[in-house]
Amino acid sequence: MVYLMEKFYITTAIDYPNSVPHLGHAYEKVCADVLARWHRSLGKEVFFLTGTDEHGQKIQKAAESAGMKPKEFVDSQAKHFKELCSKWNISFNRFIRTTDADHEKFCSELFQKVFDKKEIFLGEYEGLYCIKCETFYMEKDLIEGKCPVHELPPELVKEKSYFFKMSKYQKQWLKLIESNPEFISPANKKQEIINRVKEGLRDLSVSRTSFDWGIKVPFDSSHVIYVWFDALLNYLSGVNSDSKQFNKFWPADIHLIGKDILWHHSVIFPCMLFAAGINPPKKVFVHGFINTESGEKMSKSKGTVINPMQLAEEFSVDALRYYLIREIPFGQDGFFSREKLINRINTELANDLGNLVSRVLAMNEKFNSGIVPEAKPDEELIKKLDLNKIKSQMEALDLTHTLESVMAFVIEANKYVNEKEPWKLSGKELDKVMYSLLDSLRIIAILINAFMPESSEKITLQLGLKKTGVLNEAKFGLLKKGMKTTKGEILFQKIKEE
Ligand code: ME8
Repeated sequence: MVYLMEKFYITTAIDYPNSVPHLGHAYEKVCADVLARWHRSLGKEVFFLTGTDEHGQKIQKAAESAGMKPKEFVDSQAKHFKELCSKWNISFNRFIRTTDADHEKFCSELFQKVFDKKEIFLGEYEGLYCIKCETFYMEKDLIEGKCPVHELPPELVKEKSYFFKMSKYQKQWLKLIESNPEFISPANKKQEIINRVKEGLRDLSVSRTSFDWGIKVPFDSSHVIYVWFDALLNYLSGVNSDSKQFNKFWPADIHLIGKDILWHHSVIFPCMLFAAGINPPKKVFVHGFINTESGEKMSKSKGTVINPMQLAEEFSVDALRYYLIREIPFGQDGFFSREKLINRINTELANDLGNLVSRVLAMNEKFNSGIVPEAKPDEELIKKLDLNKIKSQMEALDLTHTLESVMAFVIEANKYVNEKEPWKLSGKELDKVMYSLLDSLRIIAILINAFMPESSEKITLQLGLKKTGVLNEAKFGLLKKGMKTTKGEILFQKIKEE
């Protein structure tokens, strides 16, 4: 019998490395990482792709300002994004850079293929372009003459350009949404895109001649491929080491992105794929934006950009990951607050989780010389764990409430300690309570693993286990008697409020 492992392919947007990463970049990667780790724990073969979007006019300009050649510039900048991944425990399978040779080849070949199918033609573009979002705008899209995302006046661009016949795909796109109503999630983002498509699709300018930092149009070297046409293809080239890998992972299960780039992902990308004869992805999920404490957009010029590397020097990465997921309802905007972060660290992480782990392990040392006793787990505690609810919340991509449900079990386990007062028990009664609590720690380590991998591992090791279990093992009765537990370092230090 051939056993085929289920696959799960998740991507983040690829970041513009014109500057150093901000907290929004970290947030997106953490959310994708949680999903990737969770699906691995479900026993799936996961591919998690992230990376950097390195071509285009914006990068060329940033390189010029830095007095560097574009390639030299992106090489130095991409490092910051890789460091971010490493510091924040982002378990990607590939970090793709659009300057990677295999991506450039893929992009160039696909452009040629679409051209050969007569889906690309030469024309002249005259219109408005916002270099910050590398996007063309119509007069009607602007707000008081400015780009709706960056609030800056766009440039008037007039140049020869190859066009992709996107206008012919309106019907096919609407059919896609009809047959896959969850293609765009959350649902509130969907209608706005449908309305826009119903107004009609225009052909898309897919090459530029006024600068040269990009992948050359294969049949006309005076043009470079439009940076979005190039960038979106990373999701395909990223899993194209050979056709076997491609066929296994494509179509992607989730493209996780921010709201400013929904049009590119949910409309332009599927239309490109229609033209190339490739299946569209299964879902585009839009997460919210992280704003500053006062609710404004992070802005370099105003000096309000929150630097995730600095934050990770000051706070534990697990605590930061926890805070972001728990605080900002997944799919909605939120803001970063130090006070709320510290509050959650002190109450939920140090008091609830940390304290549960340390008191249970300390009691096991005291009462059982650190040996897991033999006993049946207590029904009373078993029924406090609603694993089906947790699993279905995650299936619905409700990361925030999944974590809330996991932490609700931590609170229940603490209550159980307070109610049972193990220090007053002995014999079989004590064994039952202690076994149930130790087994709860094992289960909690499994359930928090995707969110806080380091803390999960610490708990696992303190229980004398070598590896955190998989989600199937998040049920009572699997902890073996006789294991030696140790009371290790404290999981989360309390932080003094400023
Ligand atoms: O858009 N909060 O790159 P990018 C949360 N290269 N997420 C945020 C955010 C914030 N304050 N600001 C930005 C690009 N993001 C393109 C993508 S994909 C083929 C090409 C999100 O560096 C943003 O929405 O500007 C996007 O999903 C990601 O960060 C990278 O943004």
